[in-house]
Amino acid sequence: MSLRLPIAAGNWKMNLDRASASELVRGLRQGLAPRGAVEVLVFPSFPLLGEVGAELVSSPIGLGGQDLHPEESGAHTGDVSAGQLADVGCGWVLVGHSERRHDHQEGDDLVASKVVAAARGGLVPILCLGETLEERRSDRTLEVIDRQLTAVAAVAPDEMVVAYEPVWAIGTGETASPEEAQVVHRFLRRRSAELWGEARAEALRILYGGSVKPDNAPDLIREIDIDGFLVGGASLDAEKFLAIIHACGESAA
Ligand code: PGA
Repeated sequence: MSLRLPIAAGNWKMNLDRASASELVRGLRQGLAPRGAVEVLVFPSFPLLGEVGAELVSSPIGLGGQDLHPEESGAHTGDVSAGQLADVGCGWVLVGHSERRHDHQEGDDLVASKVVAAARGGLVPILCLGETLEERRSDRTLEVIDRQLTAVAAVAPDEMVVAYEPVWAIGTGETASPEEAQVVHRFLRRRSAELWGEARAEALRILYGGSVKPDNAPDLIREIDIDGFLVGGASLDAEKFLAIIHACGESAA
């Protein structure tokens, strides 16, 4: 049994408005024990952070940003800094999500500098990585994962979370099978041990993401190296997200 506290993180992407986000949070709060066996996090888009943060006061749900800029402040129109995220109540931030890597051409070096900025600003980075369909088909999955993880080798803070999200599984309804995901998660833990030592690798929480739903979550979470989920679409529905959180909790109990 894993001693790592599982994480269920909801990545809301560019969805919801203040009213629907508040309603979603209220639905989640109603369905959660005051301090459960799962760390629950939500990642609203920037304009919603204040409103959602206010709804989360004295709740067990943590708040995070979907991205950040490497600099602390300055002339970076459209960007936000770690300090600004922390100021509105964030304790977490997604870094290197595949939609950022793809839509904004974010490369490994930029992602590494964002990990640095997150830690400097007191946020826990969730480093997202994963292969495209083409990379998987040409048998380069582990090579790509290795490159994306190694890019942060020298800068990763003790408190970091990794999310394996195969690009071909995000928002497509396709999921890696539990066995396929476990192969990558095992590899990530082994590589982490080489990079940062056994103790840190054992404590590292490695999430799976990509079309996680209430019906596939129980089988995925049973894998020894899957420590929770980064959930997109299903996290926009309180009932579905709660079912996924529950699946994480059952396995941790
Ligand atoms: P999905 O998104 O659950 O809708 O596939 C996951 C993610 O992008 O984090």
